[in-house]
Amino acid sequence: MKILVIGSGGREHAIAWKLSKSPHTQQLYSAPGNAGICETARCLPANVNAPEELARLAESIEADLTVIGPEAPLVAGVADAFQKRRLRVIGPSPAAARLEGSKIFAKQFMARHSIPTARFIACRSPEEARQGVESGFEFPVVIKADGLAAGKGVFIAPDRKAFDLTIERFMVERVFGDAGLSIVLEECLTGREASLMIFTDGRDYKIIAPAQDYKRANDGDEGPNTGGMGSFSTPGLIDDDTLARITREIIEPTLVGMSDEGNPFSGVLYAGLMLTGDGPKVIEFNVRLGDPETQAVLVRLESDLVEIFESILDRRIGSEEVSWSRDSSVCIVAASGGYPGEFEKGRPISGLEEAESLEGVVVFHAGTGRGEEGSFLTTGGRVLGVTARASTLPAARDRAYEAISRITFERMHYRKDIAEETRNAAS
Ligand code: AMP
Ligand code: GLY
Repeated sequence: MKILVIGSGGREHAIAWKLSKSPHTQQLYSAPGNAGICETARCLPANVNAPEELARLAESIEADLTVIGPEAPLVAGVADAFQKRRLRVIGPSPAAARLEGSKIFAKQFMARHSIPTARFIACRSPEEARQGVESGFEFPVVIKADGLAAGKGVFIAPDRKAFDLTIERFMVERVFGDAGLSIVLEECLTGREASLMIFTDGRDYKIIAPAQDYKRANDGDEGPNTGGMGSFSTPGLIDDDTLARITREIIEPTLVGMSDEGNPFSGVLYAGLMLTGDGPKVIEFNVRLGDPETQAVLVRLESDLVEIFESILDRRIGSEEVSWSRDSSVCIVAASGGYPGEFEKGRPISGLEEAESLEGVVVFHAGTGRGEEGSFLTTGGRVLGVTARASTLPAARDRAYEAISRITFERMHYRKDIAEETRNAAS
């Protein structure tokens, strides 16, 4: 089969890596890809937010299957453009992708179907927001931009002053452009955060081995939010009772609700959750694989990813065998100097081969490109996801840290506490 992977991050490198191991894969393409992906796939230039352009590209290479990595193309309508041309594509329709593309849609959907989530109101003007916060919310209050804001559109306001400032920034200064013109105000939930991803064909589903990510820039969960500084996956990360409750109270009603409303959800659904004293509640939905959770998860997947994707498209995921290794895995993100703020680019990377020579280690590229003499250069904020698999979580962690210690580029930084025992015990 000819398979096309859309996107250019660490998640897409992990997807391409796993697809390349399938005997069904004859030719792998990626658009636009990155320097790591281009080692195994033929990379083609593309604007990932132009649905028709992507569909034409898939048609021109006669792709049998296209996998969409990031959310923006899904929300922009890539799946419909592909379906119109009868091209097989993994990812929800734009109507179903609203679960991530519009927080207001997601919250109102959950309300319609009694899916547990934080109490909320939707506000479409600063006045509505100011009146809304006085209508029975206690501080801290969570403020969320309605549209896509690259994971940065959430602010927890500790008091009224911070609230007013945030409303000003979101709705008047428009720091997130149109994404912040409407907002959701939400009660602040407390508990342990967890996330659960599933492969689904709209009716049936298979649970993806749970993984945990680390959003904050610095050790001890300090510092600003990032796209994700690391992740790990290990058997039993979410206990069976909690998992059963999440599927019964959240996953299944979501699939049934989307289907009943005429927007069946197909692809990968990601539920970001707070495990509160009152049971699991949804913080957010994503309509695609998580980054960097995917890097940790796919090294544990024993089944053939092409077959899983085919079973989603043929509506038979329920009878597809999806099995996970009992091993654990850890992914540590190496980031550029300055990230998550303004960051440096164009720094030569060394030590990649030394890192990958360690057993069980794969280095997934995110923001990398090629220099003039063929060397790897940094091109993004998150540069690499150094990922290790081993029989226990501490062994996987040690291996991942040993591997990343062999890699250098100027002002590279990474968290030193990914998958640390203290955090796992507490979480
Ligand atoms: P999101 O982008 O929606 O995942 O939100 C980013 C982060 O904000 C989450 O990972 C949580 O840590 C936090 N958050 C979002 N919504 C809430 C909420 N209702 N209560 C407490 N924390 C929240
Ligand atoms: N790691 C969280 C996300 O992909 O949104």
